[in-house]
Amino acid sequence: MPVYDFTQNVDRSGTHSVKWTMYGEDVLPMWVADMEFGVPPAIMEALRARLEHPVFGYQEDSPSLRAAIAERQAARYGWQVNPDWIVLLPGLVAGLNLVAHVVGERGDGVVITPPIYPPFLHVCHLHDRQQQDAPLTLHREGQLMHYTLDADVLRAAITERSRLLLFCNPHNPAGRTFTREELLQVAAVAEQHNLILGSDEIHAELTLGESQHIPLASLAPEIEARSITLVAPSKAFNIPGLGCAAAIIPDAELRQKLRMAKFGFGALTNNLGYVAAEAAFRHGDEWLTALLAQLTINRDMMVEFVQTHLPGVAVTRPQATYLSWLDFREIGIEKPAAFFLEKAKVALNEGETFGQGGAGFARLNFGCSPGMLMEGLGRLEQAIQTR
Ligand SMILES: Cc1ncc(COP(=O)(O)O)c(C=O)c1O
Repeated sequence: MPVYDFTQNVDRSGTHSVKWTMYGEDVLPMWVADMEFGVPPAIMEALRARLEHPVFGYQEDSPSLRAAIAERQAARYGWQVNPDWIVLLPGLVAGLNLVAHVVGERGDGVVITPPIYPPFLHVCHLHDRQQQDAPLTLHREGQLMHYTLDADVLRAAITERSRLLLFCNPHNPAGRTFTREELLQVAAVAEQHNLILGSDEIHAELTLGESQHIPLASLAPEIEARSITLVAPSKAFNIPGLGCAAAIIPDAELRQKLRMAKFGFGALTNNLGYVAAEAAFRHGDEWLTALLAQLTINRDMMVEFVQTHLPGVAVTRPQATYLSWLDFREIGIEKPAAFFLEKAKVALNEGETFGQGGAGFARLNFGCSPGMLMEGLGRLEQAIQTR
């Protein structure tokens, strides 16, 4: 097995990385969700091979990529997906928008589980849907936080206008891979209230340690029938800038509606995104295994640092994603990202942008070298001690 080194950052200067250019040069960027690592060699080889052909025209489909996505769902999760159910998209956020657009009418309700990845909030607003919050339940033990999903809270958010439950599995920023029992509860609520289940599973392959991902739609045929599952190689294989995702939609009518909206909005994928995605899914697994080992080490280092150096700060121990979620309320920092940007020269995501339950929290990206992670955490500690 080749040796992959995830202990060093790749220098990204000159690539116009949003993460590294948004703030000053003296700021350590630990915010937007991409990683500091180069992609699997198979992706580079596939891209180079495609670049040998000089025409980059419109490409609306890739049957071999759809087959690769279906094979992967079967191999990893035992979910039998028909490649014909798959609509290729330029990104997951495009997918969230299309789902919000095609399910229900203006004024209908979309149930979400905050604190949540901010575009979940934006799509409700953009498509004139009512945002219906069913917050996750926060548990705290010492400095460790853990979120769970409560079916009664979900039910309480639903009205007769609810049409869509827009779910995030694994959950960003809670870092949860949901249990079968929790997912069955979500599905039961959707059945009971006749909701379409939209499930953003972009972080599915970033499971840490022993954690397991279960696709929501894989639970039972009747759940599959009301589902739209959004998947992508972009987080796990670090190719979000190549723009490629997919919606898996078993219901033919819903699939056709989404396909029409895709073309209406011009949400087309790019030639290179298709190629990179297929290479990742077919040949990226050794690289991914090595990446996950490093991310698990980073997660544990991060949790230990908080517990030993940041008294009064609470933290999640994510089961998936390279994103940790920190609670600064007890030490009285109301807007932690703004505070640390100014005092520590570290860029985090402000918790309040994640909706209900986010104020006083911040999200930290640990998809970087252990050296950068420790530097960032050290700067947080210093800023807290000297404020
Ligand atoms: C839950 C979730 N969905 C979607 C995205 C973004 O997807 P894309 O870049 O494909 O639009 C992210 C990025 O961090 C995410 O965390």
